[in-house]
Amino acid sequence: MNIEIITGDITTLAVDAIVNAANCGLLGGGGVDGAIHRAAGEALLAECRTLVAGLPKRRGETGQAYLTGAGKLPCKYVIHTPGPVYRDGEHGEAALLAECYSNSLKRAEEKQCRSIAFPCISTGVYGYPKEAAASIALATVKAFPARSVQKVVFCCFSSADADIYKRLVAQSE
Ligand code: APR
Repeated sequence: MNIEIITGDITTLAVDAIVNAANCGLLGGGGVDGAIHRAAGEALLAECRTLVAGLPKRRGETGQAYLTGAGKLPCKYVIHTPGPVYRDGEHGEAALLAECYSNSLKRAEEKQCRSIAFPCISTGVYGYPKEAAASIALATVKAFPARSVQKVVFCCFSSADADIYKRLVAQSE
């Protein structure tokens, strides 16, 4: 599995699947969630409404991953995963964040995706410390038994975020 670290806007990537750092409502929001819905258009929101209608309690769960089409986006699928809200690291946040990455990869594999792009899940509004989150993201992706997925892109929105990933990758080599 090839890992790429880039700085950019995940809505522009023509990978098979992009991952959305969603909330449990799964009907859009701010940050990357807002950017993805704005770029994908109404069709994505309509599909999310149908998705939500089929879920118990009409809501997603933190750590789970939900695949939809991509509306007007250049990718084929959007995988919506509600990340954990960071409190103090003592409430299972790390395990839930790892589940976001592993469950998103499972959804991608179910569609035989060859490439997937992740934003820095939970490190914006949800307040997850960036370095700890990046370390969990890299470890979870590297440990995943991928069959169809051959390329994982960590799409950071700032070069500072990308530098965190690059430094962690360099340290692990
Ligand atoms: N492309 C890539 N990354 C982006 C983009 C974009 N277009 N826009 C924002 N980001 C980055 C942020 O800079 C941050 O590094 O995505 C990362 C995740 O930040 P948030 O989007 O705030 O997501 P999160 O911290 O997981 O909080 C989720 O925020 O936006 C709401 O609806 C969302 O309620 C949910 C919560």
